[in-house]
Amino acid sequence: MTPLLKVTNLSASYGAVTVLHGIDLEVSRGRVTALLGANGAGKTSALRAICGLLTRKGSIELDGRQVIGLGTEDIARLGIGHVPDGRGTFTQLSVEDNLRLGGIFQKEKKRLASDIERIYAYFPILKTRRLQQAGLLSGGEQQMLAVSRALMSHPRLLLLDEPSFGLAPRIVEEIFSIFRQLNEKEGLSILLVEQNATLALEIAQEAYLIETGRIVFTGSAASVRNNEDIRRAYLGG
Ligand SMILES: Nc1ncnc2c1ncn2[C@@H]1O[C@H](COP(=O)(O)OP(=O)(O)O)[C@@H](O)[C@H]1O
Ligand SMILES: [Mg+2]
Repeated sequence: MTPLLKVTNLSASYGAVTVLHGIDLEVSRGRVTALLGANGAGKTSALRAICGLLTRKGSIELDGRQVIGLGTEDIARLGIGHVPDGRGTFTQLSVEDNLRLGGIFQKEKKRLASDIERIYAYFPILKTRRLQQAGLLSGGEQQMLAVSRALMSHPRLLLLDEPSFGLAPRIVEEIFSIFRQLNEKEGLSILLVEQNATLALEIAQEAYLIETGRIVFTGSAASVRNNEDIRRAYLGG
């Protein structure tokens, strides 16, 4: 079976500076794949390249369909949801307006309303905050909102960029348990970027390690968990 996401020989650059040097990476349907590596390794750039936010070459296939050449909106429409680092909610808008923007492709009002209710079932706290300005939410609530906004477009593949960053352990646990539910109950495929490798390897089945724009290890999450040499060499412990 073709993987849901198949990235082949992907290079990407900021202006004249190339930061990804021909990476290969796959996400299988219904799986959680972790992309791990040190600060500055190229994790964010890889996600940005996949969603068309960065000049890139090589091949990126979603379900067998080439997305290089498409713009960010078309890539989102094809089913790639991106939760950027730093969260990217519209801080001036209310929680619910952020969700409506996430559902911008949904033209049927009834469906939009039921999609919002589905989000509130996963994140009840957001319902109690629905009319509040997003910028006034706690860090954890903003992360929940950023994830929710991406989920509103019913992605087949969710790209998560350091969702645990700056959050208290209890909140991280709550958010990761929802990622697990989305994966297990709804079959959502996830490409998870994390500096917190231990956390990522708890929910991922596959793992890639990236170092200065090159993939240096590919294997099962368990093989990284159980290999102290790899962890020490690439993940700092
Ligand atoms: N906007 C940018 N302009 C130029 N270089 C950048 C920019 N963003 C990131 N970089 C560089 O790209 C490389 C990879 O960065 P990044 O993808 O953010 O790494 P990570 O997410 O793994 O920490 C780093 O060398 C970083 O300095
Ligand atoms: Mg990053």
